[in-house]
Amino acid sequence: MYRIIKQDGKAKRGELKTVHGTIQTPVFMNVGTAAAIKGAVSTQDLQTLKTQVQLSNTYHLHVRPGDQVVRQLGGLHKFMVWDKPILTDSGGFQVFSLASLRKIKEEGVYFQSHVDGRKIFMGPEESMRIQSNLASTIAMAFDECPSSKAPKEYVESSVERTTRWLERCKNELNRLNQLEDTINKKQLLFGINQGAIFDEIRIEHAKRIAEMDLDGYAVGGLAVGETHEEMYHILDATVEHLPINKPTYLMGVGTPFNILEAVDRGVDFFDCVYPTRNGRHGHLYTNNGKINLFNQKFELDDRPIEEGCQCPACQAYSRAYIRHLLKAKEMLGMRLCVMHNLYFYNTMMEEIREAIEQGNYKKYKTEKIRRMTQI
Ligand code: GUN
Ligand code: ZN
Repeated sequence: MYRIIKQDGKAKRGELKTVHGTIQTPVFMNVGTAAAIKGAVSTQDLQTLKTQVQLSNTYHLHVRPGDQVVRQLGGLHKFMVWDKPILTDSGGFQVFSLASLRKIKEEGVYFQSHVDGRKIFMGPEESMRIQSNLASTIAMAFDECPSSKAPKEYVESSVERTTRWLERCKNELNRLNQLEDTINKKQLLFGINQGAIFDEIRIEHAKRIAEMDLDGYAVGGLAVGETHEEMYHILDATVEHLPINKPTYLMGVGTPFNILEAVDRGVDFFDCVYPTRNGRHGHLYTNNGKINLFNQKFELDDRPIEEGCQCPACQAYSRAYIRHLLKAKEMLGMRLCVMHNLYFYNTMMEEIREAIEQGNYKKYKTEKIRRMTQI
């Protein structure tokens, strides 16, 4: 069950109660695509990085090791040793970005695995069965994410099909949640709004899915090549047509700036590969902007990545040492950088929640952006 604790403008401070514990929102979900955070960060590490929710992917885990394997081992929580909430993305988006030889039909998508070329079919029912086997806390609906450049007629028919898929997802998950041997019988379902950059399609779709009384609502198909202004415009148009008493999730977004802006438009949930991917490349977030540890100027810098940061990297090591590790391709270098970045994101979310509670979100946002851009 979701409830709003406090509103400040459109910004929402909420909480979602699940069988795996309560999620305080706004929240950033740490991305563990294949049941692992890239950069050798363990689930034990995540406990010290203030991670509330982990995100994993249906498509990846179906291909390897196989959702039946995870199910026989007791589900994803037991498999990866993480007892807090897990959200699984449905596979739709990953099929479109990774798999080859895709064919989209009314029944679902035919494609080849990016790992071994094996032919696979995935439709709404298959996605729900896989997610039920994984036994995640929150399952995402199976959707098509049309290109931000797709013509209007294509987007219209694609979104209609995504709505029909959503009905099938809902029916199938209801059925699975009632089966005797389902691991998580309380699995939640979030629907996904699509419509590329067309306001009218987005709004009409939002109204349609709002009637379906789902556990949460995502805005998908953004941060896929449109401008930031287009993204904020779509959020302004769409979010107000999604139920305010349900959590809102902006998929795959984004930079700290994107998150600050989206929270101001009513978004509760976020996920993005930036902190992990950038960390692996030595790009680090700080309150004074991003730094690149490969830069020569850090060679003799004996300060932590960020003065005052309580993360495991900053508590012990210098910029110069971590820079050396990265240059020597030592795994510890990546690991420390990823830990710092995740800690930065999760700490920012904590500040965001605090600011909304205090009723000074706008002021906090302006000040945070000013500091991060002052370099
Ligand atoms: N991740 C980022 N964008 C999307 C989207 O549009 N759909 C799904 N399923 N996952 C996403
Ligand atoms: Zn740090």
